[in-house]
Amino acid sequence: MLGKKIEDAFNEQINWELYSGYLYLSMSAYFQSINLTGFANWMYCQALEEGTHAMKFFDFINERSGRVELLATKAPGKEWESPLAAFEEAYEHECLVSGRINDLVNLSIEEKDHASNNFLQWFVSEQVEEEASVDEVVQKLKLVGNDGGGLFMIDQELAQRTFTPPAAEE
Ligand SMILES: [Fe+2]
Ligand SMILES: [Fe+2]
Repeated sequence: MLGKKIEDAFNEQINWELYSGYLYLSMSAYFQSINLTGFANWMYCQALEEGTHAMKFFDFINERSGRVELLATKAPGKEWESPLAAFEEAYEHECLVSGRINDLVNLSIEEKDHASNNFLQWFVSEQVEEEASVDEVVQKLKLVGNDGGGLFMIDQELAQRTFTPPAAEE
């Protein structure tokens, strides 16, 4: 049985993960609008991945006989000044999510909920990957600056990303 505090915090986290997906989907549409289809693909895959994060919390709450409560999701931004500005916002957002995951781990320790703590460890590792993969693109964008050729090369690289649903991974 899931404690009330954990249940509320995990429901809030479902909302955060869904919002992350919403934000990246909006960034994908922005990249489509400026014809950077590789960047758009990368953000599209990222949005799908965020959906799987939300579902992990959804499934865990149900498995522990908690009650899922879906909260309202705010609208994400629509336009960004540049590809770099979008990726910098994505990076800041992932750092916020990492902070939230840490807070959830702290709560699970306070509540002596080892099952939740164990469940959250997957997200602790995942956030290391998330921050690193977004930051990698930020650094590349800084490197090429306003060079169109460099941007085109990064776009081609990001076009290679594919999304693998978690069930197929295991
Ligand atoms: Fe996430
Ligand atoms: Fe990831």
